[in-house]
This record gives sequence, C-alpha cells and structure tokens, in this order.
Amino acid sequence: MSVIKKLAVLTSGGDAPGMNAAIRAVVRAAIFRGIEVVGIRRGYQGMIEHDFLPLQSKDVSNIIQRGGTILCTARSKDFKTVEGRRKAFRNLEKEKIDACVVIGGDGSFNGAAVFSEEHDIPFVGIPGTIDNDLFGTDYTIGYDTALNTIVEAVDRIRDTASSHERLFFIEVMGRGAGFLALHSGIATGAEAILLPEVDNDEEHLHQYLINQGNKKSNIILVAEGNNVGGAQAIADRCKKELKDYDIRVNVLGHIQRGGSPSAFDRFLASRLGVASVEALIDNQRSIMVGFVNHDIVHVPFNKTIHSSKNLNHILLDVADILAH
Ligand code: F6P
Repeated sequence: MSVIKKLAVLTSGGDAPGMNAAIRAVVRAAIFRGIEVVGIRRGYQGMIEHDFLPLQSKDVSNIIQRGGTILCTARSKDFKTVEGRRKAFRNLEKEKIDACVVIGGDGSFNGAAVFSEEHDIPFVGIPGTIDNDLFGTDYTIGYDTALNTIVEAVDRIRDTASSHERLFFIEVMGRGAGFLALHSGIATGAEAILLPEVDNDEEHLHQYLINQGNKKSNIILVAEGNNVGGAQAIADRCKKELKDYDIRVNVLGHIQRGGSPSAFDRFLASRLGVASVEALIDNQRSIMVGFVNHDIVHVPFNKTIHSSKNLNHILLDVADILAH
C-alpha cells in the first residue's frame, strides 16, 4: 500500500484540450490504488481559497471527450507570494492531502517547485499546454488538437485565398514558441512561416513575394511572439510596399485552445495521468511525467523549467524547400 492516502489534482495556466482526460486518468488510477482524490478548482488560486471538491470515479465519467477543464483553471498572482503559498499549504493540511498532481505548463511547474521546497508536500506535473514548449517531453497535452484546429482553419482560409487570389497573414498561438506555427505551416503548405526562434528577415519575405510572379494566393503563418510585431503589423507594412497584392489578416486566437481533444491527446493524457499517480506511489516528487519516443519519462521540475525545447531545424529546411 502507498503511504499516500489522499491526493489532490488541479489544472493551472491556460486550458488545453485533453486536460479533462488527464483528470479522469489521475482520479481513476488513484482510486484503483486505494487513494482518495480531491479536485482543486481554479488552479493554485482555488488552493489558496479552499475551493476543493471530492472526486469519485463517476464524477469523471463522460469527460474524456470534453475540451477545457471541469476543474477550471487560473493564473494565480497570489500563489507567487509567500503568504499565498502559506495559506495554500494550510488548506492542504486541513484536508489531509499527502500529494498533488498539477496539470499545466512551465509556470505551473515553477509554482509547484517553489511550493514543495517551502512546504513538505510532493508534487508531480503533467504537461498540459497547446504550445508544446516544455523541455523533456515530445508532446504536451492539447498540442495535437490545437495543431489540427489550426490546419482546419487554414485550409478554409486557403479556399478564399485561392478564389480571390489573396495574400493572407494568419497569426497562430504559441507564446514564445513556434511549434504550432512550424508544424501547421508544413501541414498546410504555407508559403512562409515567421517564427519567434528565427531572426525573420522581412526584406527576404518581400523579395520572395515580389519574385514569385503571377502567384497571388499565399498563406503566411505568423507565430505570436515573433519579431515582426504580429500579423497585423507586418501586413500593414506589406500593404505599403506590395501594392499588387490583395492582403488580409486573420488572428486565429482562442479558437485554437478549445474543442474536443484528438485521439492522440486523449491517449497521451490517459498515459500521463496513470504515470503521475504511479510516480507519486514510487515516492517521486518535483518531477514532470513526460512522453519521449512513445515512452514515459520522469524529468525533474528544475530541468524542464530551466531548459528550453528547441525546434527541429530539419523542419525549418523542409518548410523552406516546400515553399518554393
Ligand atoms: O499558453 C497557452 C496560450 O494559449 C499561448 O499560446 C498564448 O500566448 C496564451 O496562452 C494566451 O493566454 P490568455 O488566454 O491568458 O490570453
């Protein structure tokens, strides 16, 4: 039997499709191992405000296919303070919680790492963000669904782009990381992809557009966090210099974060959810459970927080070769 008798699960940071599937997996894996489970609503803010609810197996029925998070989520400013974290710990003590699973991104893991250094409580993290920007895992929960949502949206815009011979600048999410933009750009046959990781040369893009002759229908994917100032800004500059083009802008926004998770995200969330409970039972703490080469790995929080995940540069070449 595990020394853990009661475990808490929370979602933190931006919601991502597949978080519910991960909650379900954590709850059911814990119950299977004889551990009681409590859900914490609204991430760390709910931990501070004692917003807890007991979770039974039936409470997580019929959620594997739902986007968002049934526990709600937040980016808590109070948890960044010593006093906030003290309050949070008092509430965990009151509830007799022995360990926590946090589903979120690097900000959430950073909070967990600081918290468990100050207070003696084990934390395991499950990577959940559409950005796929966490070091130590090939995929984060929500990325595959968001990627497919982008591809579907860009395909639709492509219909208008070719029918009207227009040049579209489409901005996609990813914070400071270009995984969504690069992969969706290749998958949609984008003519150019502007990424935060690359020193984008606007002049080079202008020359490319000028030299391509009669081709008027183009899709340029712009990752947010790029160095060109966003899709609208670069489109405004292009409008002045490339008068032959009929230019439009589309910022996909939060449509990328919602929706029913893909089969892959449900599968990933299920595996990572079970792995997180097993890790806690094995006395692991302050680690993220990740998925590398289709296998579960354990990555210390400090490593995933302080290392950056790089884009595969071969893919930059692939995108470039195929755009010509
Ligand atoms: O981290 C997920 C993400 O969707 C990023 O891609 C984006 O930069 C950010 O969250 C948007 O956050 P918010 O929903 O708080 O505006």
